[in-house]
Amino acid sequence: MNQSPLTVAVVGLSKIVLPLAVQFAQHGCRVIGCDINSQVVDMTNTGQSHIQEEPGLATALTDVVHKGSLSATLNTADAVSQAAVVVVIVPVGIDARHEVDFASIDAATAAIGDGYREKLEIQEKEEQFATSAQDGRYSQQGARS
Ligand SMILES: NC(=O)c1ccc[n+]([C@@H]2O[C@H](COP(=O)([O-])OP(=O)(O)OC[C@H]3O[C@@H](n4cnc5c(N)ncnc54)[C@H](O)[C@@H]3O)[C@@H](O)[C@H]2O)c1
Repeated sequence: MNQSPLTVAVVGLSKIVLPLAVQFAQHGCRVIGCDINSQVVDMTNTGQSHIQEEPGLATALTDVVHKGSLSATLNTADAVSQAAVVVVIVPVGIDARHEVDFASIDAATAAIGDGYREKLEIQEKEEQFATSAQDGRYSQQGARS
């Protein structure tokens, strides 16, 4: 029986994540790479690596893109809505005042949240529980989670 491949969204096509994305694709996953840089997305979609210093990456990327196992997008929310697994590695730098700059991770998280919202399933279940007789506040009642 043929199973459809696991879809993985990788957010931030950095020198760390692009080789990881290729590894996922080489091992049977369908990979959607997400980046805010349209040049990075366009190059990836044509099978060209924007990272030169990683041995073997350029050839391997071309191969998985041509096989249809890896593609790239500017639309992180849409990629996440299709994915079973999300990997996010974006820069968290230190600014001129020596404070942590969370802008990239905040933006990535917001986009990931938008993607999850589309498939979020809210479950409500009712459970009965009993507490000790000494605590009159909660004798026996329904709890929602
Ligand atoms: N490079 C290293 O050797 C190394 C080692 C350990 C840890 N890290 C950490 O890994 C992270 C990435 O580092 P790097 O040097 O590989 O980065 P990089 O600068 O090579 O690439 C970052 C990529 O993330 C993209 N990006 C930024 N914000 C985004 C967002 N909101 N959504 C989607 N894509 C976004 C950028 O366009 C860029 O393509 C950093 O936090 C860094 O500290 C890097």
